[in-house]
Amino acid sequence: MSSPISDAPAYQGGTAVQKLAIVNLHELEAEAKRILPPAGFGYIASGSGDEWTMRENLAAFQRITIEPQYLSGVSDPDLRVTVLGSNLPMPIIVPPMGSHGLAHVSMEEGTAKGAEAAGALMVAATPANLSLERIAAAKPGAKWFQLYFPSDLGFARELLQRSEAAGYTAIVLTADTVWASPRETNLRNKFTTAGSGLGRGNVPLAGGPVDTRDLRFAKKALSWGDVDFIHKNCRLPVIIKGILSPRNAQTAIERGAAAIYVSNHGGRALIGAPASIAVLPRIAETVDGRVPIILDGGVRRGADVFRALALGATIVAVGRPVLYALALGGWMGVQSVLDYLRDDFALTMKIAGTQDLRAISRDFLSPLYS
Ligand code: FNR
Repeated sequence: MSSPISDAPAYQGGTAVQKLAIVNLHELEAEAKRILPPAGFGYIASGSGDEWTMRENLAAFQRITIEPQYLSGVSDPDLRVTVLGSNLPMPIIVPPMGSHGLAHVSMEEGTAKGAEAAGALMVAATPANLSLERIAAAKPGAKWFQLYFPSDLGFARELLQRSEAAGYTAIVLTADTVWASPRETNLRNKFTTAGSGLGRGNVPLAGGPVDTRDLRFAKKALSWGDVDFIHKNCRLPVIIKGILSPRNAQTAIERGAAAIYVSNHGGRALIGAPASIAVLPRIAETVDGRVPIILDGGVRRGADVFRALALGATIVAVGRPVLYALALGGWMGVQSVLDYLRDDFALTMKIAGTQDLRAISRDFLSPLYS
């Protein structure tokens, strides 16, 4: 599967397999930076343009304050949640991210094994280094497949059918990165994932020149008609990822979306996009409980999970820290991050004063911010 197609020197990701003693998720970034090749680390860590949106993802969470309800008799929070038929032990998942080989030699298999060990749903990405079938084999439990919609409709159909056959239970159509915003760190490092020499997992089975590691194969003028194509060619529910406005959310539901994924791609897409948590309240109001809402972008602490659920998210995803942990500890590192976030979220629930996930609402937030 790992067939280098460039002359780039072999890329060396992390090799350790170990549990991580995590103080907080922010500190993993500096530790990963120490062991990863600079251009690979830069690809993971960076955002588009001046990275304002990436920073705002973190800053916006901190402006939302939680008002605790003490003496509520809470001891043992129940974190379980059901989303699109998947019974999950916690509302925290692994979002789609390409090229896990930039982090660790185990690539997406390491992430899949770590997510499985933690009981977390994982979204496998089209630009993975390993094939969706190999990722599925390492992740018997809950999993979705993220689609960058190919301009070749035969290949689009093939990816949809392969996902269904491999046991993925939903398609996550990423809508926000059809046109890539420049990531200045990558320009400076002259870095592309296609040039990394790492494998390309999801090329068409019939072969051909398609390289799924960058977005050249993806359709540019993506539209709602392409969502109809997915519905016609696949029985799985479709989630639209990259929603940042109530109007877009409303149309997505009208066009058959089974869930809304609020995200700005970790600040890697549109320059000038808002923090995802900042637009969540208005989107949740429009969605009005009709479909589940997934949110990512800057989720780093249990309090962030709590804030997102209070403002209407059903589940959240944590991105870069998972790749840093993969770099530092392979599958055990990934499990460490997910266990840490689960425990920190459970602690937030206990201190804030609720053991019922469904009771987490704006009533727990200071009115100024909610
Ligand atoms: C991503 N993301 C992403 N999203 C997607 O839909 N398809 C993809 O292939 C990728 N690839 C990717 C690679 C890397 C290295 C990163 C960091 C991110 C975006 C990802 O799903 C998610 O939206 C963000 O990572 C969430 O933000 P945080 O948690 O990283 O702040």
